[in-house]
Amino acid sequence: MSPAEAPIYATVRIESEDAASGFRCGKHALDDYFARHALANDLAGIGRAYVLRRFGDDETLPRVLGYYTLSMASVASEGVAAAFVKKLPRYPMPVALIGRLAVDERARGRRFGEKLLVDALHRVVNASDLLGCLGIVVDAKDEAAERFYAGYDLVPLQAEGWPRRMFLAIATAKSALEP
Ligand SMILES: CC(C)(COP(=O)(O)OP(=O)(O)OC[C@H]1O[C@@H](n2cnc3c(N)ncnc32)[C@H](O)[C@@H]1OP(=O)(O)O)[C@@H](O)C(=O)NCCC(=O)NCCS
Repeated sequence: MSPAEAPIYATVRIESEDAASGFRCGKHALDDYFARHALANDLAGIGRAYVLRRFGDDETLPRVLGYYTLSMASVASEGVAAAFVKKLPRYPMPVALIGRLAVDERARGRRFGEKLLVDALHRVVNASDLLGCLGIVVDAKDEAAERFYAGYDLVPLQAEGWPRRMFLAIATAKSALEP
């Protein structure tokens, strides 16, 4: 690939320079997690952290455009049963959790949030070939986050309360990612 064709952004595993880069999305809990815990939890295997990093020389944008974390989780089968044709066993069902997803304030509205979410879905769909995983869950912190996720067909598993857990079946994610 010639330099002119090189991608300007890529989603990669977090590195120490990312954590110290001054990422800020405006939500203290997400900013604090990124600066203080994301790298350590990634290295410990608690929550893998992926950053959308700027590789181009557009200095008007921060080094880290956004990030998300991925880990394993489980949900009550009753909660997600409606998304499946066949009955589910009654014990908790395996899912992947996008624990946090945020875009830097200086990089909003450029579809970086969408890029991060699509990247996460690709990773989970690939992982679901190796281990049982019925879908993806997120914990929307507020109405704006819920609207963002609803735009990608995640459905709330509860009607009230925050954070609000939302779900997307793996088969739905797979077909959405098909070219
Ligand atoms: C939510 C967030 C990730 C969106 O990032 P973004 O890069 O600005 O969003 P995108 O440009 O990729 O937008 C993709 C779509 O989501 C919609 N969207 C973006 N932010 C939204 C918001 N706050 N509320 C509702 N919809 C939103 C866009 O309008 C767009 O919709 P369209 O397909 O109809 O045009 C970003 O606002 C953010 O980091 N918020 C703070 C952290 C947070 O709440 N994270 C989510 C839960 S942990």
